[in-house]
Amino acid sequence: MPKENPVIEVENLCKTFHAPGKGGRIAALRDISFRVAPREVLGVVGKSGAGKTTLLRVLSLQTPADSGTLNFGATRIEDSTPSGVVREVMRRTSTVFQGFSLLYNRSVLENVALPLKLRKVARTERTDKAREMLEFVGLKAKAEAYPITLSGGEAQRVAIARALVTEPEVLFLDEPTSALDAETGREILDLLKKAQRSYPMAMILVAHHMDVVRYMCDRVLHLEDGAARRMGPIRNSAQFRVDPIEALWDTPHDV
Ligand SMILES: Nc1ncnc2c1ncn2[C@@H]1O[C@H](COP(=O)(O)OP(=O)(O)OP(=O)(O)O)[C@@H](O)[C@H]1O
Ligand SMILES: [Mg+2]
Repeated sequence: MPKENPVIEVENLCKTFHAPGKGGRIAALRDISFRVAPREVLGVVGKSGAGKTTLLRVLSLQTPADSGTLNFGATRIEDSTPSGVVREVMRRTSTVFQGFSLLYNRSVLENVALPLKLRKVARTERTDKAREMLEFVGLKAKAEAYPITLSGGEAQRVAIARALVTEPEVLFLDEPTSALDAETGREILDLLKKAQRSYPMAMILVAHHMDVVRYMCDRVLHLEDGAARRMGPIRNSAQFRVDPIEALWDTPHDV
């Protein structure tokens, strides 16, 4: 673990859900503790249902934990923490959700500007900043388009632009490439790497594919049935292998 003060420190986090027919409750997170350093990329892996999305939802303060504490820098979040403080901490993080979660009745530009609107940033300032972010993700030309007209890769770029527009200290990403083909997925990962160079932030990245984890992460938390099975640094890889479509055929093939 790096020696800098952590941006996030999680202690003994527990979360259960009502589960009719399963003895009443299921434990989605069991006594999870870890720290994340500034600019660190922490991977979260585990089988479907292991608790990965729940962990991101609890860390991003969208869902309360049953017990345990969360520290964001010097701010400690507990049950009794006033909602104003919780909101203030929420403003320092952003999430790229499983699925793109864009608003389909708003233009791309309005989607990206939305977090600034919610923070009551003046219209000209938020539009300028949103355009700047769209340029950063390579989608300047799509500012006035509507999300329905975008490909999955483009929609994910918009979701990333929207997440970055507030310059978060921590970016939560829930399987950001799982709905995309490998090549487009790699472009999204490269965009996230570029984002981290331009906007220093920690990332907590849920991923199903180990090649994504190796390409992106410094350390990895393995969740199993809601519990931390293992956590530690990994040997990451500067390579991200994408099999070209042409490799499917042994010989050149004309239509
Ligand atoms: N709102 C909810 N109400 C009841 N149970 C829930 C709720 N959200 C999650 N769960 C349960 O908690 C467990 C963990 O779910 P979670 O969505 O965190 O898994 P996951 O690791 O993200 O899975 P996946 O890889 O499929 O996205 C599952 O058993 C799930 O059914
Ligand atoms: Mg999930």
